[in-house]
Amino acid sequence: MPAWRITGRAAELAQLDAAIGAGGTGGMVLAGTAGTGKTRLLREALHRAKQSGRDVVQVAATRCTAAIPFGAVSGLLSPGAPAGGPPWELLRLAAEHLARPAAQPPLVVGADDVHLLDRESAALLHHLVLHGVVFLVAAVRAGEPAPDAVVALWKDGLAGRLTVHPLPAAAMDDLLVQALGPAVQDGARQHIHWVTRGSPLLLRELLAGALEEGALVRQDSGWGWKDQPYYGPTLVEVVNGWLAALGDGSRTALEVVACAEPLPAELLNQLADGGALDPAAVETAERRGVISSGYSGSRQVMRPGHPIYGEVIRATLPRGKAQRIASWLAGTGAGAPRSAATPVLPAVDGLPLTRREHEIALLATSGLTSKAIAASLNLSVRTVNNHLARTYAKAGISSRAELAAIMTRTALTGSPAPAAGLPAPSGGLTGRPPGLPAEGAA
Ligand SMILES: Nc1ncnc2c1ncn2[C@@H]1O[C@H](COP(=O)(O)OP(=O)(O)O)[C@@H](O)[C@H]1O
Ligand SMILES: [Mg+2]
Repeated sequence: MPAWRITGRAAELAQLDAAIGAGGTGGMVLAGTAGTGKTRLLREALHRAKQSGRDVVQVAATRCTAAIPFGAVSGLLSPGAPAGGPPWELLRLAAEHLARPAAQPPLVVGADDVHLLDRESAALLHHLVLHGVVFLVAAVRAGEPAPDAVVALWKDGLAGRLTVHPLPAAAMDDLLVQALGPAVQDGARQHIHWVTRGSPLLLRELLAGALEEGALVRQDSGWGWKDQPYYGPTLVEVVNGWLAALGDGSRTALEVVACAEPLPAELLNQLADGGALDPAAVETAERRGVISSGYSGSRQVMRPGHPIYGEVIRATLPRGKAQRIASWLAGTGAGAPRSAATPVLPAVDGLPLTRREHEIALLATSGLTSKAIAASLNLSVRTVNNHLARTYAKAGISSRAELAAIMTRTALTGSPAPAAGLPAPSGGLTGRPPGLPAEGAA
């Protein structure tokens, strides 16, 4: 997929142009969550600085350079600096080497992923800003621990801080048009908005994997899912990378929530009280935003902190783990057979679905085949298909793609659950206007 034209960052670029163009020293730190487009914004700002005639040097920290003193910033060190000399001497020589004559504007240094800087590299960048040698534009992943010298940049007011928010819906639409052209089915568009939540990285990986697999196809009515959303291996890898730092206990809490989303908060508490989940790990998962609480009607419910977590986990959860989680949930009553008095939870687009129908519908729209669903729930394929058929009949639909659209809409609107037996207004696909993804919470 060719690189996309940059979109949705006019305000940020104007701010950076002004800060760099003022011609002083200091800096600007671009902070945002993984995949929001920090690197792209940084590169664009540096490119514009270069175009306007400024001297620009770029450095980037990685997990590899993190282990080597001055590993990330070797390009900034003075060529004549004595190898193995004292670090402060290297700082002094680098500052001398990089300083511009008073009549010229300072060198612009772009530094990516500064949360991964080794201590010495961070100290050098801090030194260069503190002593008024360069203008630094640095990108940092929000919420990650960073070296003290990096934190000091904005804490001590040496550099400004610009938050890189998820892209607005209009910009995500623009990227969709760049990738697929204007003809995209509403259901697919809504689903993609919901699951990528303003992350160009997720959009890119989602589209690349789905196009390669032939899961996203051009139909008469525009691009849409052939049968169900598909999440390719590189997308799964990206998401698992984000979740890699989670301990096993927190990961399990997320898996439970993903399997039963939206999971009433009291059931999650019950699982923690009953020993199935570690209470401290549940708390950590919530604190880190991996799971989050909200309301479905008046009921407090838990959902994955990002829709993609739920989607990827449901699509990739090993069978044994899924079974274990299903039995825990059954133990809380969540999976118990419904009696006439039990409210049906949760409702899908206002449709009174049984918990089992909802569970199967969620798994079906997350990419599992009937066979895989049957295996993970310990049911026959025929039973799974019967549940799906009943759901289709209730919704007045005939395909998994339509089901996905409804499930997406439900996740977006958090429709309240009607009581069992009460006929709910069934809007099918035309009932309620689809919502747009929540911004800013990635
Ligand atoms: N505003 C944007 N317009 C177009 N493409 C973008 C934009 N922001 C990011 N991208 C693309 O999305 C992908 C991920 O962005 P990146 O800058 O690497 O994210 P981050 O550094 O925050 O993890 C890259 O392919 C990048 O080119
Ligand atoms: Mg980056």
